Amino acid sequence: AFDIELARSAMTLHVPSGKTILEVMRDAGLTVPSSCEQGACGTCLTGVMEGEVDHQDVYLNDSEKQSNTCMMTCVSRAKSARLVLDI
Ligand code: FES
Repeated sequence: AFDIELARSAMTLHVPSGKTILEVMRDAGLTVPSSCEQGACGTCLTGVMEGEVDHQDVYLNDSEKQSNTCMMTCVSRAKSARLVLDI
């Protein structure tokens, strides 16, 4: 489990194990675009401002994953206790 801070929405949310970042943001009332929800299509691409991502998708290439500046919120999670997202 970890926390996400949504920089532009001025909101901090807790992501428990068993829920995706996308689900937690929707539960909080945010409208977030998605399509495949399996980490393949790229629709849920989100900027990462702080924190370390645990990439679980097959959309980003290795250098994009290593850059730690974007993530797919439908499947990927955090290695750090907190992620700051550009949402
Ligand atoms: Fe398709 Fe996240 S919704 S990659």
